[in-house]
Amino acid sequence: MSPPETEAETEAGTLRVSDLHVSYGRSVQALHGVSLTVPQGRIVAVLGSNGAGKSTLLRAVSGTLALHRGTVERGTVHFDGVRLSGDAARSVAAGVVQVPEGRRIFGALSVEDNLRAGFLGSARRSRAELRAARERVFAQFPVLAERRRQAAGLMSGGEQQMLAMGRALMAAPRLLLLDEPSLGLAPLMVQRIAEIIHEINAQGTSILLVEQNAAMALELSDRASVLDVGQVRLEGSSADLAAADEVRRLYLGETYETGCASDANGDAAYATAASAPSVTGPGLTELGRWNG
Ligand SMILES: Nc1ncnc2c1ncn2[C@@H]1O[C@H](COP(=O)(O)OP(=O)(O)O)[C@@H](O)[C@H]1O
Ligand SMILES: [Mg+2]
Repeated sequence: MSPPETEAETEAGTLRVSDLHVSYGRSVQALHGVSLTVPQGRIVAVLGSNGAGKSTLLRAVSGTLALHRGTVERGTVHFDGVRLSGDAARSVAAGVVQVPEGRRIFGALSVEDNLRAGFLGSARRSRAELRAARERVFAQFPVLAERRRQAAGLMSGGEQQMLAMGRALMAAPRLLLLDEPSLGLAPLMVQRIAEIIHEINAQGTSILLVEQNAAMALELSDRASVLDVGQVRLEGSSADLAAADEVRRLYLGETYETGCASDANGDAAYATAASAPSVTGPGLTELGRWNG
């Protein structure tokens, strides 16, 4: 008989968000008790419309809430069994690195200097380590190697997203927090970014992916949560969520372009999942309880 796993083993590399309440100032309550888990090595997506609280959730995890004058009022964030207490430098040191919404690259700096900035946040220090990290990023994003001496602000939106992700990878994250990486990008570039996210995950980095592009996020992720005015409204495997009527109507709609739901064949492909959904959460009819 094998011994039961210790708590430390089950928590290794796991992000655990419990009952998180976050406010901005006195009047804006952005999260009302959000819980969510990202097991080591997985991709977990958070969907939700504008203002649902997605960025707030990532900021609470990365310890950057204070920069936005936000406060955690209740609840906890643990990574790898250690409590993260809202300090951005400590989160990075623990291996939790965020790529913020809107990329936030340094437009006037070169691509190389942007990457160096990502390295400075990490625990490593030597020049050899910097070079090795940069070479790994260049291997992942050849376009960044080609543009290494150019001002970052001159690159396209997709290239800037790659730079923002490359900058985060310079810190060798164990968990990458991605805030709407597809925002404002053309469909082909969205597909490319999705492939890159998949590759980064395949190399061992866990990913918490926030997206308004539900089709992309559900295709990439293992599990997903739907945030709605600061609460988790639905949670389940991504396949079940993609098949759930409510998700299809509210978040997939006519923009669903993966070929799974856009025609009769696609509907048939989801028949099995739809017949046995294990999505948890209230139905639309119960929403009054949440809003009232
Ligand atoms: N810095 C801030 N100051 C005050 N309110 C904010 C701030 N950032 C976000 N909010 C509010 O918090 C709520 C959640 O916002 P956000 O987390 O940005 O949502 P999402 O990323 O899902 O669009 C919204 O009502 C938004 O207006
Ligand atoms: Mg946001």
